Amino acid sequence: KIPVIIDCDPGLDDIIGLLMACSSNRLDVRAVTVVAGNQTVEKVGENALRFLELIGMDIPVSLGFSKPLVRELVIGSDIHGENGICNIELPKTNKTISSLHAIDLMKKIVEESEKKITLIPTGPLTNIAMFILRYPELKDKIEKISLMGGGINGGNRTKAAEFNIYVDPEAADIVFKSGIPITMCGLDVTKRAYLLREDIYRIKDIENNISRFMMGIIGKLPKFKDKNGNIYCPLHDPVAVYAVSNPDMIHTKALHVDIELKGEFTRGATVANMGSRFNKKTNADVAFGINREDFVENIIKSIVNS
Ligand code: BDR
Ligand code: CA
Repeated sequence: KIPVIIDCDPGLDDIIGLLMACSSNRLDVRAVTVVAGNQTVEKVGENALRFLELIGMDIPVSLGFSKPLVRELVIGSDIHGENGICNIELPKTNKTISSLHAIDLMKKIVEESEKKITLIPTGPLTNIAMFILRYPELKDKIEKISLMGGGINGGNRTKAAEFNIYVDPEAADIVFKSGIPITMCGLDVTKRAYLLREDIYRIKDIENNISRFMMGIIGKLPKFKDKNGNIYCPLHDPVAVYAVSNPDMIHTKALHVDIELKGEFTRGATVANMGSRFNKKTNADVAFGINREDFVENIIKSIVNS
């Protein structure tokens, strides 16, 4: 199994990513760390703790940074609501948050592991950047970073920037310059990782505890209509998990990605050029394609088996 740490801000779609990771027989989730993003770090920490209890996973959860490296925190309450999951109630738990800070829990796990660890960030990159700055000697023990963030062809928080990178562009800049292998699962691929109405009905028909809970989550996720009037619901964060468990089902292109830190309209844009004219050394495998049917089957399997 591939040992991973999920660094997230649950978050409607983060929850689906967590379920996918925890129920995968290819992944060994060693810890969940959280970061301020969709909501405050305390709220997303509580969501992670309670959700892991709901699915019967006994793994440490620790809190990371409560704000970006240099900017004011922008939270995603417009989409994820006041508690981070649109006020859906998760059952309370007696479990408690780890006494270690997120980056110290990461350090402990990385040091204790016989194999290199894969990091899967699905929120702003503040914790990951601080881990790299604080423990640079551990970079070599990271297999890779499979992150949800960015978009080569435009954003969702602004015209230019995707939410996770927009919130903490300085952190993203550190991560993309770190030299650690990166798989960037941005909007280019996540817009192709959607549920159709019939997929949602299949989830409903599973009729177990988790499917009922997931129907609540999916019900709150933004939906769009294609040109034929069909409803579809893109899932962002689970793609970063799927890219680790099923790398053959993702199509990537090695690119040089820069993070815009100074732009007036372009803060947090992930800037890359597909042409060969600008051949700077590549720093990320940017995902563009996904086997959507297989991705959806994976999600359904994770709900059935939970
Ligand atoms: C990303 O932003 C957040 O709102 C989601 O959880 C996801 O990580 C999508 O842009
Ligand atoms: Ca997220």
